[in-house]
Amino acid sequence: MAQDGVRYAIVADIHSNVDALSAVMDSIAKDHVDRILCLGDIIGYNAAPAECLKMAMDHSVVCISGNHERFLTGATTIEPSVKKGTLDVLDWTKKTISPEQLEFITGLKRRSFVDNAYLMAHGSPRHEDEYVLTTQVMRDNILYVSNNFLGITVCFLGHTHAPLVVAQGKLETHFHEDRTLPIEDGKVYLINPGSVGQPRDGCPKAAYGVFDSGAKTMTIKRVDYDIAAAQKRVREAGFEERLAVRLAIGK
Ligand SMILES: [Fe+2]
Repeated sequence: MAQDGVRYAIVADIHSNVDALSAVMDSIAKDHVDRILCLGDIIGYNAAPAECLKMAMDHSVVCISGNHERFLTGATTIEPSVKKGTLDVLDWTKKTISPEQLEFITGLKRRSFVDNAYLMAHGSPRHEDEYVLTTQVMRDNILYVSNNFLGITVCFLGHTHAPLVVAQGKLETHFHEDRTLPIEDGKVYLINPGSVGQPRDGCPKAAYGVFDSGAKTMTIKRVDYDIAAAQKRVREAGFEERLAVRLAIGK
């Protein structure tokens, strides 16, 4: 079991958006957390990968890989469905980050356990690239955790860029403002804190979470940041215009 009263900040899908990440880290500084966990996709889509990786490494953030890290290192085969613009950004990213940062990305695990009580995954507990979007996939993955990971009560995941808190019989998906939910004993939860750097739930504010193992609460937070500055970086780097536009609408 985790120690009583451990507070974790949970971030996911930062996607090289240092303007969003800076605002989130400023907010986390006031949350009195013990550890920061990152569920993958630090890089991709936006134009400040080195800055984001530096921030994660400087703050000793506990990280796993996302599909964008695995695409960049060649650890995952790139499907034909991956857009050319996405690959162009990753090529640019590879030239932009330092050898130490590339080594850091290459060493990331696909899945990790935290304090023998929690699981970190990028896509879903059963597969790193699965999107947890439908109730059937949610049910299947809750069952998968129950059957395969004895004692694991919460799986933190990212990948969809939309906040989610789901347990047996309970589904919460609307988190446009800060919201705190109780975590009940005896249930297995899947929790997505949303995306720091490219939210897709119709709310452009950066999203992250705070999990308190002592109080048994999960808070999803939404943070305003300088979206125009992030868009400017995307345009100056010459990336597809859609990558700048979507930041302002949260899609
Ligand atoms: Fe992502």
